[in-house]
Amino acid sequence: MCAEALARVESILAQAGIGNPAKDALAIIEAAKHLADKNNHLLCALAMAADRAAGTPLGYVTGRVNFMALDLSAAPGALVPRDETELLGWTALRMLNDFPVDAEHRLIDMCCGSGNLVCGIASYNPNVRAWASDLVDDAVRLAQLNVRRLQLAKRVEVVQGDLFDALSGRGLEGTVDVIVCNPPYISSGRLDRDRAELLTHEPRAAFDGGPFGVSIFQRVVRGALLFLKPGGTLLFEIGLGQERQVAILFDRTGGYDPVTTVNDCQGHARVIAGRRRLV
Ligand SMILES: C[S@@+](CC[C@H](N)C(=O)[O-])C[C@H]1O[C@@H](n2cnc3c(N)ncnc32)[C@H](O)[C@@H]1O
Repeated sequence: MCAEALARVESILAQAGIGNPAKDALAIIEAAKHLADKNNHLLCALAMAADRAAGTPLGYVTGRVNFMALDLSAAPGALVPRDETELLGWTALRMLNDFPVDAEHRLIDMCCGSGNLVCGIASYNPNVRAWASDLVDDAVRLAQLNVRRLQLAKRVEVVQGDLFDALSGRGLEGTVDVIVCNPPYISSGRLDRDRAELLTHEPRAAFDGGPFGVSIFQRVVRGALLFLKPGGTLLFEIGLGQERQVAILFDRTGGYDPVTTVNDCQGHARVIAGRRRLV
């Protein structure tokens, strides 16, 4: 497809007020090349541009998303992974890469959505053996697809259930090195008011963190203590300004050392980590 097609798509997106029209236009043109035969590339790209201009997330339009430099499938029913979540993925990977190379490292990706975190982490560390879980069937199916596409199925299992329910009884209790979790963390009230636009395309379960936005954090902090080995770490992505609230949840259990946080490029704490006490 020619530069003219790229310019047409970019102009449609720019007119619709899409944030980064050049980047999205390039992704649409690339996807159209794979989806349609040569004679229909332009038509396909224009249809996708119209969809994107109407507000559909780019990942749903193209069926693809780049996360931790991996090409993943995206589909309605599961949150499209966000760039900011890479901070959690790279932080967990750095931690796991410091472990001895001759041993298996056990990881849980709780609330896995499309499986972006577990796929990113397991792809770059061959010693990782991982389990991922999500409540929503569509998300579990998509995560399983991504695991298969990246040829990780021998080391990564994806199951469906409410938080840790589906992971019980597998001999994982007290053996896990790292748990990562990007939970729903927007309060139900905000979702119904100023963040309601999020629900136009993506599932409520991906965002709704209960009345104060911390209901899932609270349950995961408690549930993780059963699975982490002493010295193992629970890492969360947190929303802007949530670090104090989440630190209190860790502290209240009495089971973790004092938490640490990791800042993003703008200096905001976006990852919080709690290490299970040794005794
Ligand atoms: C913010 S999304 C994160 C998805 C993915 N990990 C990512 O980083 O893009 C939160 C995920 O939590 C899942 N979820 C919500 N409540 C859950 C529960 N009780 N048990 C398991 N998963 C849950 C949602 O289905 C959604 O996939």
